[in-house]
Amino acid sequence: MATVDSAHEASTTGRSAARIPISRPFIGDEEKAAVLAVLDSGMLVQGPQVAALEEEFAALLGVRHAIANASGTAALHLALLAHDIGPGDEVITSAFSFVATVNTILYVGARPVFADVDERTFNLDPAAVAEAVTPRTRAIVPVHLYGLPCDMDGIASVAAEHGLTVIEDAAQAIGATYRGRPVGTFGTGCFSLYATKNVASGEGGVVTTDDDRIADRVRLLRQHGMRARYAYETLGYNLRMTDLHAAIGRVQLGRLDEMTRRRRANAAVLSRSLTSVTTPTVPDDRDHVWHQYTVRVARPDLSRDEAVRRLDEAGIGTGIFYPEGLHQLPHVREVVGDQRLPVTERLTSEVLSLPVHPALVEDDLARVVAAVNGL
Ligand SMILES: Cc1ncc(COP(=O)(O)O)c(C=O)c1O
Repeated sequence: MATVDSAHEASTTGRSAARIPISRPFIGDEEKAAVLAVLDSGMLVQGPQVAALEEEFAALLGVRHAIANASGTAALHLALLAHDIGPGDEVITSAFSFVATVNTILYVGARPVFADVDERTFNLDPAAVAEAVTPRTRAIVPVHLYGLPCDMDGIASVAAEHGLTVIEDAAQAIGATYRGRPVGTFGTGCFSLYATKNVASGEGGVVTTDDDRIADRVRLLRQHGMRARYAYETLGYNLRMTDLHAAIGRVQLGRLDEMTRRRRANAAVLSRSLTSVTTPTVPDDRDHVWHQYTVRVARPDLSRDEAVRRLDEAGIGTGIFYPEGLHQLPHVREVVGDQRLPVTERLTSEVLSLPVHPALVEDDLARVVAAVNGL
């Protein structure tokens, strides 16, 4: 994954003037001023900036509670804990995701159960989810991969039929909507504010919910299980957000509409212009926020590795998110054994993400299109 460091390196090395990174944090004077103001304030952790970010985040989604914490991983961990999911429980999720999706299920001692994805959307196939339900299933964790919402009607109907909790992994999808409704409002929502995300505070996470009891549990668990000072109600953790991160996140949140517009415009150019690879499909009932613009390279005359190599030579940064399914990782196989997920396995061997971030200019896009069409 491209990081702040690699984006920085790309902009400071010799080759870089011409290099187009796969992602680049969009940090300006406002973020810098916001951080300096926090440093001068004397309140560095879970202070007024965190409270303001929580209010603004909740207002953006139209939910009762947004609880800021240390990372998207922490958000998923806290959500699972708050719903009392643990040993003996099964949680159905997608293996076509970042490792945090499965690790957090393992952290709480539950068993991950993978359902295969829909080939067109790369997201959980509700029919496969329905087949994976057993008497031990407690929750479904749909992942809105690359910023495209899952089929939430399909998932909600399986959840309702079996009385299951829905915890959305919306780490990549802030601002995305399904039938006009924002992701993170269909169940307990988990967002990431990591450096490359659409709202990037450096590190950070947010849990969203309309349920007062779940919100209270998340707040308690993120700070040592402490209700009043040194009054410990339960085993808790230190998963707080700092005010430095919250201050950056607030500036970024204020720019989200503009940044998403740019991502959508960039994606539209790519989808209109690319001819040599399979471009993404977006069903009519959902709005994509293009955290990643991901094509499929499935040509007998061109391997994905060769495509990556040639694009790299042309100064185009790419990413493979993700090179294998989570069910294939050694520490996961130890728990779930051998499983075949044919669609996930095919897609993870074909996907290639191209630059779509808001810092791209027209000329960058033209170069990406020319290089990809020349493959
Ligand atoms: C799908 C998905 N889930 C969870 C996470 C974890 O978020 P974080 O890196 O903020 O811990 C990420 C981010 O990398 C992600 O992409």
